[in-house]
Amino acid sequence: MDSFIKKLTKTYHRSVYPVITPTRPELSQAGKTVLITGGSTGIGYHVAKSFVQAKADKVIILGRRVDKVKAAGEALSAESQGTKVAAIPCDVGSATAVAELWGRFAGEGTRIDVLVLNAANTGIVKPLMEQGLAGVWESYDFNVRTQFDMTERFYKQDLGAGIKKYLIHVSTGAVHNFDVTAAMPTYSMTKHAGALTFQLVAQEIPPEDMQVVVFHPGAILTEAGERLGMTKDSLPWEDPSLPGGFAVWAATPEAEFIHGRFVWAPWDVDELKAGELGKRLKEDQNFLKFNVNGI
Ligand SMILES: NC(=O)c1ccc[n+]([C@@H]2O[C@H](COP(=O)([O-])OP(=O)(O)OC[C@H]3O[C@@H](n4cnc5c(N)ncnc54)[C@H](OP(=O)(O)O)[C@@H]3O)[C@@H](O)[C@H]2O)c1
Repeated sequence: MDSFIKKLTKTYHRSVYPVITPTRPELSQAGKTVLITGGSTGIGYHVAKSFVQAKADKVIILGRRVDKVKAAGEALSAESQGTKVAAIPCDVGSATAVAELWGRFAGEGTRIDVLVLNAANTGIVKPLMEQGLAGVWESYDFNVRTQFDMTERFYKQDLGAGIKKYLIHVSTGAVHNFDVTAAMPTYSMTKHAGALTFQLVAQEIPPEDMQVVVFHPGAILTEAGERLGMTKDSLPWEDPSLPGGFAVWAATPEAEFIHGRFVWAPWDVDELKAGELGKRLKEDQNFLKFNVNGI
């Protein structure tokens, strides 16, 4: 599985490191309301925990299983030093539930500053032609339609003049490591389409209005892996503090230089910003974007 790993920077992080540590004062989320899809377990939970550590005003997590979302909300509240935590049972795959959610926010005057689109449909482990249209379309529906629905509603909120929004999409290396994830073609295909959607949204909207960061979180042992039969010994897993800290860093002006690009959380952000990589990011508008090889 080592061939899955793409080391763009010399340093490949496996857990949170100083620059992306949520308690770093420059990354403070004070005054911000953060909404995270799928925040009850796995990566989403650790992203929520990191925003609590970064002292966001309010962290809202969404999940379908009522017991899980409630327990996660209680655990986050117990760690909070002033952050209000709201744990809302909500199936973001349901267009009706999403409309109700944003209607509720509008009604109560809740404005979202940071949206972390984390929940995904992981697809079926089967060749495309064996699963057929229904399976493929269900995955598209979640990994593209739902993501766009949430994004449009988020973007169209009126936060007031000069207030920047931050959109973070938890993507996956499966959007480009097609050979390694060949057994999960629907996942690769639909997460790729979702990530391309954000690339194109970022092409239309300047980072001063809405900063868009799309990232692979690293390999994290979660329920998703466990459903595929993975255990702690299956892979050299990264620590969930890594995508947690990375998401907080991505929701700050420091990450503006990767607006609309696709990056991996394990890559060192200082190395990305400086030297040859930083120069290439400035000069090559296609660098770290989805494109056709060879043209
Ligand atoms: N784990 C990895 O190694 C890895 C690697 C690459 C990319 N990723 C990406 O990281 C993200 C999170 O992965 P994960 O491994 O943490 O997944 P996970 O273990 O399956 O957890 C997903 C979370 O999202 C919630 N969720 C799922 N569907 C939902 C829906 N329709 N509405 C609301 N909440 C929903 C789940 O709670 P309920 O079931 O209660 O709703 C759960 O809390 C995904 O985008 C995935 O593609 C993960």
